[in-house]
Amino acid sequence: MSNAPTEETVIDVEHYTDRLFSFNISRPKSFRFRSGEFIMIGLPALPDQKRPIMRAYSVASPSWDESLEFFSIKVPDGPLTSRLQKIKKGDTVLLGRKPVGTLVLDALLPGKRLYMFSTGTGIAPFASLIRDPETYERYDQVILTHTCRQKAELSYGLRLVESLKDDPLVGEMIGDKLLHLTSLTREDYPLKGRITTLIESGDLFTNAGVPPLNPEEDRVMICGSKDMIDDTAKLVEGFGLKEGSNSQPAEFVVEKSFVG
Ligand code: A2P
Repeated sequence: MSNAPTEETVIDVEHYTDRLFSFNISRPKSFRFRSGEFIMIGLPALPDQKRPIMRAYSVASPSWDESLEFFSIKVPDGPLTSRLQKIKKGDTVLLGRKPVGTLVLDALLPGKRLYMFSTGTGIAPFASLIRDPETYERYDQVILTHTCRQKAELSYGLRLVESLKDDPLVGEMIGDKLLHLTSLTREDYPLKGRITTLIESGDLFTNAGVPPLNPEEDRVMICGSKDMIDDTAKLVEGFGLKEGSNSQPAEFVVEKSFVG
């Protein structure tokens, strides 16, 4: 079988700010993935390019969906996103064949609460996981945090979580199990500050109405920029949680949100 990417069709594009947009593409019947995994995405090579530029993107749609959804940053001179941000319905997007990743339920030991810490487009893998019934079968409580610079950048997540109330598959399962905590760092907002600051000050736990992180009950997934991941992982380790992987599940997992 060829390893070359498949050519998929853009179904829908939505722009949130001058920095963020999401898009949906067709999904090959044979394309299987676990919620939270990422895949290579690209655009056909330009005449002066030897090969297409491909970047890793977390799949934001649930694994049962007919299309594949992605949430992307727009980098004005980014090799891929400078072109990708201009895609329109009907255009072709290249899709890799092998989804992989560590932000999966199988890389964590059973627990009581599942935290998903995200910044910016780092919410993408969690957009998939919070639509997966298994997430709610495995945990009593799911706490999704999303921190951005400005309010408009929270829209994608706010709208998604709101839509889950009427979701035929997970709507009833969720009940009050899912807590979505949003914070901003560069505009006024009820909850202000980086996720790292909110963990350190304890404001996160006060707001969520839960005890501080502990390795007996809590499991954590982290997705954002490299610095955010490194800083947040360090704090989480400070509470005694150990990093897990597909082959050795433990108490927390991290993944970069890939941009460029
Ligand atoms: P800040 O505004 O203080 O830089 P970006 O869009 O640059 O990826 O940032 C998304 C969010 O992540 C912003 O709110 C930003 O806060 C925050 N952030 C950036 N670096 C870190 C870090 N090292 N640890 C925690 N949060 C971070």
